[in-house]
Amino acid sequence: MTDRYAVIGNPVAHSKSPFIHAEFARQTGQDIVYERILAPLEGFRSAVQDFSAEGGKGLNVTVPFKLEAFQIANQRGLRAEEAEAVNTLKFEGATIYGDNTDGIGLSRDIQANLGCHLAGRDILLMGAGGAAQGALGRLLDAGPARVVIANRTVDKAERLAQRFRAARSLAAEALSASGYAELSGQQFDIVVNSTSASLDDTVLDLPDGLFARDSLAYDMMYGKGMTPFLEMALAQGAGRCADGLGMLVEQAAESFFIWRGVRPQTGQVIEALKAR
Ligand code: ATR
Repeated sequence: MTDRYAVIGNPVAHSKSPFIHAEFARQTGQDIVYERILAPLEGFRSAVQDFSAEGGKGLNVTVPFKLEAFQIANQRGLRAEEAEAVNTLKFEGATIYGDNTDGIGLSRDIQANLGCHLAGRDILLMGAGGAAQGALGRLLDAGPARVVIANRTVDKAERLAQRFRAARSLAAEALSASGYAELSGQQFDIVVNSTSASLDDTVLDLPDGLFARDSLAYDMMYGKGMTPFLEMALAQGAGRCADGLGMLVEQAAESFFIWRGVRPQTGQVIEALKAR
C-alpha cells in the first residue's frame, strides 16, 4: 500500500515540498504519495486528526502551525523540545511523534552544501521568532566561538538567549542578545537572517561594517532571489550570499529520514529547484 504524507499550512499553495518529496521517493524507490493540505486557521487540530484517521503516515507542518503541532505531538524529539516548535509529525498507532528538522536543515546547508564551517566562528542570528528558535540549537551544536541573537524587540532575543544559556550552561560571551543598533563596531563570519522582514521587502536597520571578510550572509527566506538583506550584505562586503532553498531541501531530507529510515541525496534536488 502506498503511504500518504503531506505538507500542512496556511497558505500552502506555493509549497515546494510535494516536488521535493516526490524527487526523494523516486530517487530512493519509496512507495509514497505527498500532498498539500490547506488547513483553516482555526482548524489545524481537526485537519491533522482527519489525515491520521484516513491512514496518513506523516506531515510537514509550516506557517503558522508549528507551535500548535508542538502541542498536538504526544511524543517529541529533543530538537522539538528545544525549539518549542514542530515541523515534522509521524503517526504510529496512538503515537503522534513531533520533531523539528529546520535547524539541522540550516546547519547542513551552511556546512555541507556551502562548505562554510561553523566551529570557532562568530555568528550573528537576526530575529528571535519561531525560525530563530528552530535554528539556534543546531548552530550552538556546531561549536561556534560565539552567537549573538539580534532582534528589533530586544527582550525576545534576551529571553531566547537566556533559555539556551541555562539549558546548555553557556557563558554570556558564548551566547548573547542585542538590539540592531548595538551591533555597531562588531564583525561576524556568518550572518543569518531569520526575520520575516524579507517577506515584505523591509530592509533591516543594521549598522555598517558587520560583515567580516569572506563572511557568509544567509537569508532563510527563499524564492525571492536577492532579498533586501542579501543585497545589503553584498554591498557591505559579505564574501558570499545564500537564500534558504538549500535549507528547505535539507530539512525535507531529514523529515524523509524520520519517516522512511532512508536518507535521500539533496544536491540534485537543490539544483532541480534552482533550475525551475
Ligand atoms: P517566524 O516563525 O518566521 O520566525 P515570528 O515568530 O513571527 O515568525 O518572528 C518574526 C521575526 O521577524 C521576529 O524576530 C520579528 O521581530 P520582533 O520580534 O521585533 O517582532 C522579525 N521581524 C518581522 N518583521 C520585521 C521588520 N520589519 N523589522 C525587523 N524585524 C522584523
